[in-house]
Amino acid sequence: MALWTQKNSIVITCAKGIPPLLREEVCSLGLPIVSEGVAHVETEGTMADAMRLNLFIRTGQRVLFLLETFNAKNPDELYERVSKIKWEDYIPGNEYLCITSSVDTPTIKDSRFANLKCKDAIVDRMMRKFGRRPDSGPKKDRVVAHLYWRDELCLLYLDTSGDPLSKRGYRRIPLRAPMQETLAAAVVLAAGWKGKGNFINPMCGSGTLAIEAALIGLNRPPGLLRTNYGFMHLKGFDESSWKSLRKEAKIVVKSRLDGKMIATDISEEAVLAAKKNAATAGVEHLMEFGICEYSETPVPDGGGVVVFNPPYGERLGEKKALESLYMGIGDFFKKRCKGYKGYIFTGNLDLVKRVGLKTRRRIPFFNSNIECRLLEYDLYEGSRKRKGADVISPQS
Ligand SMILES: C[S@@+](CC[C@H](N)C(=O)[O-])C[C@H]1O[C@@H](n2cnc3c(N)ncnc32)[C@H](O)[C@@H]1O
Repeated sequence: MALWTQKNSIVITCAKGIPPLLREEVCSLGLPIVSEGVAHVETEGTMADAMRLNLFIRTGQRVLFLLETFNAKNPDELYERVSKIKWEDYIPGNEYLCITSSVDTPTIKDSRFANLKCKDAIVDRMMRKFGRRPDSGPKKDRVVAHLYWRDELCLLYLDTSGDPLSKRGYRRIPLRAPMQETLAAAVVLAAGWKGKGNFINPMCGSGTLAIEAALIGLNRPPGLLRTNYGFMHLKGFDESSWKSLRKEAKIVVKSRLDGKMIATDISEEAVLAAKKNAATAGVEHLMEFGICEYSETPVPDGGGVVVFNPPYGERLGEKKALESLYMGIGDFFKKRCKGYKGYIFTGNLDLVKRVGLKTRRRIPFFNSNIECRLLEYDLYEGSRKRKGADVISPQS
């Protein structure tokens, strides 16, 4: 296969709950949707399209470019088939290699064995071709190949992202319970915030939601922050076309936002981290930070969105203590945020009942393995408490 010119299937992986948003992102790049699963969207394109996806996509994790499809019943057949692929056409002789996989086939109990077989097949072939065995290991900052194996069906991809796209490169200080950058972007997009109005983020933690909102508001592709991708280590990578893609992307970037971006947290350490991360992302100058109780967060006139990602509380005692916090968020919404849309992103649907406001939408997401919801509240004059608490069924 002529790697840089031929069209092939491109799978963009993401967290569960994200495909509807990712699909929109893929469509907005003018690429077709071939299929959509619980944690991926499939399109079709060239490696140049894969580069564009890496640069522009906010909610996807990895951009996988299909190399080969074949059947294998067992690890030996896998080795045979992988050895037949002309790796020397795709990987320079001196590259470091990482194999990842998603395996569900009767002859393999531990997917690491499939990775090992795959890696052996590649390096043995490279040894035959170049007289030298490429180094390999778990680091994803060079060439990454991904094996998808279900029953007898094997799909072998080049992972053009390398390190996952959630690693934007700006979050040097993560703190406790940070949200992944791709999930934060998905939350901001699901909230419909595109840069109009104010963006208020009490309990900002390390600032991920506010930073992603700023990047979205500025129309700044998240990939501009990163300097390393898997595709850069493949044979035939043309640096000048990557540079012109970046240059083009910069043309539409705005220099300021229409509304205010306000990020606060009760923890000084969190606010300092958020500031540093925002500075690394190049958006600190657009934000106002404050160390305060969430209820003291300034909410300027003009409307916009107020987004909370409060603690969920894992232990029982913690949950009890958090009930009043969630009640307080409801009061804050009612009293201070009229004319705004309010959002709470949480993994605790019991605590949400304490907010005491009627939800307009409940959007399902997953944060690692925790099932979460983004709850939307219309905060117009006269938002009323429902009789009793807001009831959320597990399916909602
Ligand atoms: C789940 S973390 C937010 C994580 C954030 N989205 C990120 O990506 O880093 C919750 C944050 O709420 C803050 N917090 C807890 N109680 C608070 C309160 N009463 N007022 C303001 N902030 C509070 C914590 O300091 C913590 O940073």
